[in-house]
Amino acid sequence: MTPAPVRILMCSPEHYDVNYVINPWMEGNIHRSSQARAQQQWQQLNTLLAAQAHIDLVNPVQGWPDMVFTANAGLVLGNTVVLSRFYHPERQGEQPHFKAWFEQQGYQVHELPEDLAFEGAGDALLDRAGRWLWAGYGFRSLLEAHPYLARWLDIEVLSLRLIDKRFYHLDTCFCPLSDGYLLYYPPAFDTYSNRLIELRVPADKRIPVSEADATQFACNAVEVNRTLVANLISSELQARLEAQGFRVLTTDLSEFLKAGGAAKCLTLRLTETALPAAEPVAGVSQRLITLEGHLVDSNLLNEALDTIVEQGGSFQIQRLNLGSHRQNTSNVQLQVSAPTEATLATILSSLIDLGARLPEDSRTQVLLETVTQPGVAPEDFYVTTIYPTQIYHQGQWVSVSQQRMDGVIVLQDRDQTSPQAYCCLIRDLQVGDRVVCGVDGIRTLHKATQERSQEFSFMDSGVSSERRVELLVEQIAWELRRIKDRGGKTVVVAGPVVIHTGGSPHLATLIREGYVQALLGGNAIAVHDLEQAVYGTSLGVDLGRGRPVKGGHRHHLKTINTIRHYGSIAAAVEANFIQSGIFYECIRHQVPFALAGSIRDDGPLPETQMDLVKAQQEYSQLIQGADLILMLSTMLHSIGVGNMTPSGVKLICVDINPAVVTKLADRGSLESMGIVTDVGLFLSLLVQQLQRLGRPYLKPVPPLPVQ
Ligand code: ARG
Repeated sequence: MTPAPVRILMCSPEHYDVNYVINPWMEGNIHRSSQARAQQQWQQLNTLLAAQAHIDLVNPVQGWPDMVFTANAGLVLGNTVVLSRFYHPERQGEQPHFKAWFEQQGYQVHELPEDLAFEGAGDALLDRAGRWLWAGYGFRSLLEAHPYLARWLDIEVLSLRLIDKRFYHLDTCFCPLSDGYLLYYPPAFDTYSNRLIELRVPADKRIPVSEADATQFACNAVEVNRTLVANLISSELQARLEAQGFRVLTTDLSEFLKAGGAAKCLTLRLTETALPAAEPVAGVSQRLITLEGHLVDSNLLNEALDTIVEQGGSFQIQRLNLGSHRQNTSNVQLQVSAPTEATLATILSSLIDLGARLPEDSRTQVLLETVTQPGVAPEDFYVTTIYPTQIYHQGQWVSVSQQRMDGVIVLQDRDQTSPQAYCCLIRDLQVGDRVVCGVDGIRTLHKATQERSQEFSFMDSGVSSERRVELLVEQIAWELRRIKDRGGKTVVVAGPVVIHTGGSPHLATLIREGYVQALLGGNAIAVHDLEQAVYGTSLGVDLGRGRPVKGGHRHHLKTINTIRHYGSIAAAVEANFIQSGIFYECIRHQVPFALAGSIRDDGPLPETQMDLVKAQQEYSQLIQGADLILMLSTMLHSIGVGNMTPSGVKLICVDINPAVVTKLADRGSLESMGIVTDVGLFLSLLVQQLQRLGRPYLKPVPPLPVQ
């Protein structure tokens, strides 16, 4: 029995032209195509295909120049068609003409709800064995349209996210072939989609193309019975295809490339069949969320929508109430869609971290899973942020204590009446602990931006420029003094650069004068500070003169050795071996410090904690109750501290490297501030400023000790 001939729909290019720009290929090509050449190229394609298939024609309509691209008429399967809903108004006028043609031919026609963009077979390609439908989204078609395809066409839909705007339709970079082969350009898809493709198409069936082939529309090929027709295919790719038993025909379609289309776009396959589906599924998962706050002023809405799209999801705004005055908050209800449950969960947890809420009904009870292996969380654990968090358990919101980022939430409810929740590090989990999983019943509390910016009015600037440093220092000095006056807590995290840049006497002054309640650092800052106290050098360099001292390279080791001889920095201070400097002041004024070790440490000093888990614990104890943390030129220790500090603590990060500052100023710029400057200079300005604020608060800085 000979198989029924393949039928293909085409539309002659009488009215074809580039009249507008709706894809990057059209840029610079308006009215640059030749009508005569387009006619001739189209005819050539038509002739080639007519040898393989039966060609149906739909009449072109004046004013709709892109109607030649019949792939975008709709998606056909059997006797059913899902009509396109064009994303751009420039093509929406084609819809009724295609609809009329399908109706005339007796198809069962489905139309998507308004505003649900879907561009037909340009964005939906059947597996040639009819096992499933590949559907693209990201530019022209919405992920939300995919469940309709699954339902109406009774087929499994695999959603692929397009991420390169040159490949705005699935058929520009993806071409399923006979016998399970796939011709495609992998970089046009996001990581998740590539993984999905690799799961469904074994490696020996995947034919990835180069960028050069992709940009010649090699993937925009029409295959009928193992003959491929395309605009251009490199000899290398042709050889690969022929090795798999395909015949390759190329035909110049350069006039249509000017509009961003080639062979496949100019055709619509009308004879499509599928295997009977076990159950039609579009992997698409959806949830409603609400978001409230200064959505527009604070850019929160943008951030939320970007988060959804960047992570491969899609959204529909279902309700938006904009606050009418500056002080009023707005709220929005969004339907979030994602290609899988797992992607949706990732997106939702990012949204929860931004303050989004899942609808509150009885089903939002938090999901708890029990730890079965010490130090290992259940797979689906929720990762904490710096923001105050609550979980919904047995009809009430329970606040999470010891808030920090990158932990998990453990719920304790011994007597079933007074549930308690706290943040815990994965390594500290014990068998039997009940850990919050998934995304339901979790909310984070964010102060409305308006209040926050008033509270920390001076800290609304993010990273500063040099010219603003002085102004900022003035404000920090004021803040430090207020904290001191009310018996608050300022913690300093400092790196050895503080010493190398001459900042040590200034930091020592701050400690002596009661502006610092705890000091965190590594082995190096202590070694260099002590070396300076003993020899007047820092890593062998005389800071007063700015020159290396003869034999100075041994100073730091000799210092370490002597401190080790005394047994501790405190003992060395007692013995008058150390008579000045940062750590001298810490010992004298009982300011606690913690030194975290690292692989490059010399010594180490007796106080340096080389067990990093213990060092993290020491740090975390010292930052308890901090009002402000001043981070001075140490990326490593600052990031460590940032991770364990809950929101609400002001962070000031000073570093000469803008990248470090940006990284730390990133936790909601309203409560963190970055200053790009030399840290020695910063400290000297800060001390000067505190002196200016009033005598009772500061005595002048003593000169550097000279050996
Ligand atoms: N200018 C048309 C557009 O941007 C080209 C369509 C190409 N069609 C396709 N199936 N890729 O919509």
